[in-house]
Parts: sequence; C-alpha cells; structure tokens
Amino acid sequence: MTTSHAIEIAGLTKSYGDQVVLRGVDLAVPRGTVLALLGSNGAGKTTVVRILSTLLRADGGSATVDGFDVAAEAARVRESISLTGQFAAVDEILTGRENLVLVAQLRRLEHPQRIADELLERFALSDAAGRRTATYSGGMRRRLDIAMSLIGDPPVLFLDEPTTGLDPQSRNEVWQTVRELAGHGTTVLLTTQYLEEAEQLADRIAILHEGRIIAEGTLAELRQLFPPTVVEYVEKQPTLEEVFLAIVGHDDAGHTAARNAEHAVTQGEPR
Ligand SMILES: Nc1ncnc2c1ncn2[C@@H]1O[C@H](COP(=O)(O)OP(=O)(O)OP(=O)(O)O)[C@@H](O)[C@H]1O
Ligand SMILES: [Mg+2]
Repeated sequence: MTTSHAIEIAGLTKSYGDQVVLRGVDLAVPRGTVLALLGSNGAGKTTVVRILSTLLRADGGSATVDGFDVAAEAARVRESISLTGQFAAVDEILTGRENLVLVAQLRRLEHPQRIADELLERFALSDAAGRRTATYSGGMRRRLDIAMSLIGDPPVLFLDEPTTGLDPQSRNEVWQTVRELAGHGTTVLLTTQYLEEAEQLADRIAILHEGRIIAEGTLAELRQLFPPTVVEYVEKQPTLEEVFLAIVGHDDAGHTAARNAEHAVTQGEPR
C-alpha cells in the first residue's frame, strides 16, 4: 500500500469503562513531517499514542502507521515504529552503554557496541556511558531514552511528552535531535504541554479536545483562526527563559557567562 501519509487515523474511539476518552479522532500525518498533538491533561494524547503503537486496542475506527493497520498488522507496525513513552524506560541497573547495547541486540542488529558508542557520542553521554543510569539526571535519562528509540532507524517515531521535566538546555538538546531526525525523513508524532515546543518543532499542530481533533494545521493556518493581530508598541522584555539561557549558557562561552554572573554576585555580597 502506498500512501503519502505515515499515519492515518479515521473515526478512532476509545472508552475506559464508562469514561469515553476518544469520540472519533481523525488525523493524517504526512511522511517526513513533525506533528505536535496538543491537549490538556487527560485529553487522551497518551491513549492515541498507545493505540498507534499497538499497546492498546481501539474500540472503533481505524488507524494505519507506515501503511500498516494497527489492529490487523500489529507486528508490521511495531517494526516501523519506536516509542519514547511519557515516563523514561531506561533500565536503572544497567549502564547507559549496556542499555543501548541491549536494545541493539534485541533488534538483532550487527555491531551493537559500535551503534551504542555512536549514539552515546551523539547524545553527549560518552562520559557517563559506564555509569548505572540510576545515577543519571532527568535530562540524561531522557536523552538516553530517545537514543534507545532511534536504534534501527524506525521511519515513524512517537514521543510522548519528550521534554516534560527537563531544564531549558536539555530541552533544547532534545529539540535539536527531533529537528535532525525530521531533516532525515523520520516522521515524528509528539505530544506536548508546551506550546512553545509545538511552535519550535512542529510542521503541523493538532489539538485534541473532548475526544476529537478540534483544530489541525500549520501554525500559520491556526493563527488564521484568530482575529487579525492588533499592532501595539511595547518595550520587549526578555523572557525568563532567555535570561536563564543567557546566564547559564549552552556552550563554552555560556559557561564563562555563568562564572561571571556568579563572580558578580559574590562581589556584591556584604562582608
Ligand atoms: N488504563 C486506564 N484505565 C482507566 N482510565 C484511563 C486509563 N488510561 C487513561 N485513562 C483515563 O483516560 C483519560 C485520558 O488519559 P491519557 O493518559 O490518554 O491523557 P493525556 O492527554 O495523555 O494526559 P496527560 O497530559 O496528563 O498525559 C484520563 O482521564 C485518564 O484518567
Ligand atoms: Mg499523557
């Protein structure tokens, strides 16, 4: 089957007992694009992701991923996807390298050590590679989790709240990774609570509300739904995030900025 869409969902329904969560979700994600699925807590984002990744059966409707039906061809779907869940799935007993080698072996790939080393390097985890992941920070775990999900180059990637709980620097690193993946043709469906994340990363944005997709389109298209912008002149203050990143920095220059800031504070202290 050939389709220009990596993911196609039509009339998807799902209830948990009496609680109806999905009331007929329709969505199509073009190949090689990033779609951000937005929705409040409990809207059903994780439920959609779990159905698409064959972990959960829908009650009604249909969904295909990479051309395969999630219900009838679940095994084929699983070969085409990888999932980074809302809660990091790294094994804490193992080291970072061991986690990666394990996944490469499970996927029956050749040279698992080499694959692990390349990913450790790419995700700036080489120095921590030999440490148990129990000692990793939240950001390091997230990066390792995403690295694990890239093993085998699946064409479709699901990221369920990939940056929740990360500091701005780690979040930027994850964003950069997603951009690189999309640049290489991977289709990404990510859920997020952060509207800025959707603005930064997504080619298209879909809003799940009360069981349905109530809006879908590019950011520009969604902006059209609102009344025309009123032009106002305001003095632009930096956002707290801009201040934070300027002080903490993302690179060597930034580290200097951090030290200078620390120095200034120390100098200012009364003796
Ligand atoms: N296994 C389950 N059994 C019963 N109810 C569930 C189950 N999983 C999810 N729900 C309920 O279904 C609704 C949708 O949950 P879901 O996790 O899909 O939402 P979400 O949009 O991912 O929310 P969040 O932003 O908090 O992650 C919630 O009300 C949740 O309590
Ligand atoms: Mg969720």
